[in-house]
Amino acid sequence: MENNKRPESLARITTEAAARAFIDEQIAAVRAQVGDKKVLLALSGGVDSSVVAALLVRAIGKQLVCVHVNHGLLRKGEPEQVVEVFRNQMDANLIYVDAVDRFLDKLANVSDPETKRKIIGAEFIEVFKEEALKLENVKFLAQGTIYPDILESEEGVKAHHNVGGLPEQLGFELVEPLKFLYKDEVRVVGDALGLPAGMVYRQPFPGPGLGVRCLGAITRDRLECVRESDAILREEFAKNGLEGKVWQYFTIVPDFKSVGVQDGKRSFAWPVIIRAVNTRDAMTAEVEDVPFALLQHITERITHEVPGVNRVCFDLTPKPTGTIEWE
Ligand code: XMP
Repeated sequence: MENNKRPESLARITTEAAARAFIDEQIAAVRAQVGDKKVLLALSGGVDSSVVAALLVRAIGKQLVCVHVNHGLLRKGEPEQVVEVFRNQMDANLIYVDAVDRFLDKLANVSDPETKRKIIGAEFIEVFKEEALKLENVKFLAQGTIYPDILESEEGVKAHHNVGGLPEQLGFELVEPLKFLYKDEVRVVGDALGLPAGMVYRQPFPGPGLGVRCLGAITRDRLECVRESDAILREEFAKNGLEGKVWQYFTIVPDFKSVGVQDGKRSFAWPVIIRAVNTRDAMTAEVEDVPFALLQHITERITHEVPGVNRVCFDLTPKPTGTIEWE
């Protein structure tokens, strides 16, 4: 039975010195575990996989093979940032897979939220597996598992996430250097590894990405409305001191249009819904009291800068009765 209990000797990591000691220990442990074999990692660009990647680059350099699957449902600038940070700055071995058409074709005309999630998850495993099978001498799969994932799967709250079932199918042994850390500790370690703050302190982002924010059957035009409006919202929250203060904020685009007037003419276009919430554990959530003038400014920008949008709404619903995401 694998040891899945956080050692009592592991003090809470809150300082850079503690993070450095942890990093040194893990580098030695990973080197001892993998020897001269290759390690594969699905690098989404989220906090956990990014910290694992940075740690493993330090430990084993080019023996780590990172695979970044761009499924077309990432936020604006994310795939570019993964390439810039890991390939250009850290000189990591990074395979970038442009799977946008593949995912969007599979998702065409699928409107049920859970079916969308299943398709995205299954296709991700398929793409990742194809890349894995092209490589030789890979014996290990690294995962950004953190301690709450282990606790929650033991309590039956959620199934163990990440690339489910793959290690068994491909005969991989797992490398999980963060598995005893809480999220705040992962961020301290990420800082100590020199990752950009925008990567280490980013807000939570669901695995199915913008796919569950482009409501109903995903279309490319509405997906761009979600991506562009989300980028404006994030930029304005950052400029106005709300980044890092508000727990999660994003935009949603429903699959119906409304009438408006734009440039003196009648328009029939998509609405954008803004969601901004605070929570401790995502089980309940309160709506952030965003200054009205800022909401008006964001509305002005979205309706003028995002093609195909003529209206902006703000979601006032706490959880319960709403969930944080709309799907
Ligand atoms: P809800 O919408 O359930 O969201 O109130 C709670 C938190 O979970 C995130 N979320 C997901 N994360 N896969 C994920 O990895 C998913 O399918 C998923 N659905 C929701 C959501 O963004 C929020 O932080």
